[in-house]
Order: sequence, then C-alpha cells, then structure tokens
Amino acid sequence: MNNNSYVISIIPQLKDNYSYIISSNNNKNAIVVDPADATSILRFIKDKKLSLEAIILTHHHSDHTSGILGILDEINVPVYSPNKQIDGTTNLVTNKDKINFSFISFDIIATPGHTLDHIVYYSKLGKILFSGDTLFRLGCGRVFEGTYEQMFTSLEILKNLNDETEVYCGHEYTLNNFKFLQSIFTDMKELELIKEQILKQLKNSNFSIPFNLGKEKKVNPFLSTNSSYYQEYKQNKKFDDFEMFSHIRDLKNNY
Ligand SMILES: [Fe+2]
Repeated sequence: MNNNSYVISIIPQLKDNYSYIISSNNNKNAIVVDPADATSILRFIKDKKLSLEAIILTHHHSDHTSGILGILDEINVPVYSPNKQIDGTTNLVTNKDKINFSFISFDIIATPGHTLDHIVYYSKLGKILFSGDTLFRLGCGRVFEGTYEQMFTSLEILKNLNDETEVYCGHEYTLNNFKFLQSIFTDMKELELIKEQILKQLKNSNFSIPFNLGKEKKVNPFLSTNSSYYQEYKQNKKFDDFEMFSHIRDLKNNY
C-alpha cells in the first residue's frame, strides 16, 4: 500500500507468516511489524536504505518474534510489545495507549483470545490495522490462551473500526479460510465473486493482503455479520451472536 507519506511492504516470513515494513517517503524511517526472520528484514532495510525507527509486536508467539534479537544485533531500536517476557522489549504497551512515531501514530487495542497478551495497531488517520493473529481474511485466530468470550469481544471491537480500514494480518490463510466458508455457507451467492477477488489479488501480488474491513464485515463468518446467509444459519440453529461465533470456531478447529 502506498499513500503519499509512507509505504507498507509485505515481507513473507517462515511458511505462511507476514511481517510488514512501514517506511516513510519523507525521512526514510521505517517500522517493522512482527519480525520472525531477521535476515530478510535486515536485507530489505539495507537495500532500500531505510533507517529503522522501531519494532512493534502483536503477541508473544515465536513466529512473530523470532527475528527480534537478530535485528537488535545489527540495529539498536526500541521494541514495543504487550508482554515484557518477549525478548528485547523496551516499551510495554497496553490497551488505549497511543504511540507516535516520526511519520505515523498508532492506537493500541487489546484483543485477547488467540493469546492473552494480544494487541493490534490501528492508525485512525491512515485507516490501517495490523491485526496479528486476531483477524485474518475470512477467518480469525485460534483461541489458544483466552476464552471464546474474549475472542468474540475482541472481534466485535475490530468490527466497529472504520469500514475503509485496510487490514494487514499475520498469516496467509485466505484460501483455506475460503474453503471453510464454502463448506458452511454452501448456498452463499457471493462465493464465486469472493474467490475471484482473492485469486486475482494472489495472482497480481502473491498476497491476499491487505483486505478491506468494510467488505470483510459482510463475508467473514467470525464477524457476526448482518448478511442474509449468516442470519439465516443463526436463526435455524437458534443461536445468539456469541453462540454462533462459538459454533463456527468449533467447526473451524476441526476443519
Ligand atoms: Fe500466533
């Protein structure tokens, strides 16, 4: 993504993880999100002649943090994290904190569920969300440490952000999530169109990221949508929104 003042570059990591580098067009400063592999991050920074300003982290899982120490060996920068146990943490951040970098600011939103320490980074001005392993395209993170209630509440908070928000998540799980969607809402009219859009984006860039939150609200089965297929399914099973979320999460766990 490219607005006038900064660029967000997608840096694939490990098997299907994404790290991101946000870099300023004006001062060449950069911020790295969830680095797993220091070598690829350092190479990108060097190639583009960027000056790293900070590392920001969404949660403690090693596939989002294993690159930190390798980066710090080369460049000494602050590490913003929600958990002081994470290697290299210098700045502990928590719900409702605001962090101001030289070219972008983020609101911190706590989204426990996948892990208890999970946070996301939201730029209200840039309409950008780094959602880590809380919200994926057509999916959400597995509930490892928190409760289903926590994950449901976290997703409800994200659902209320600006519809124009572009979401950058922690993994490329989209095609698998699409197959799951297809398996539960077999009659959904939009399936072909959704598939077409995903395949087109993958063909153009190799990534199905970023995705638009407003569109996602209509199709992601974990976001308690108002769409007719979702409501119909829920009513047939006599579920409220939370029961529907739990049911879909259980189905996905065993998919
Ligand atoms: Fe994770």
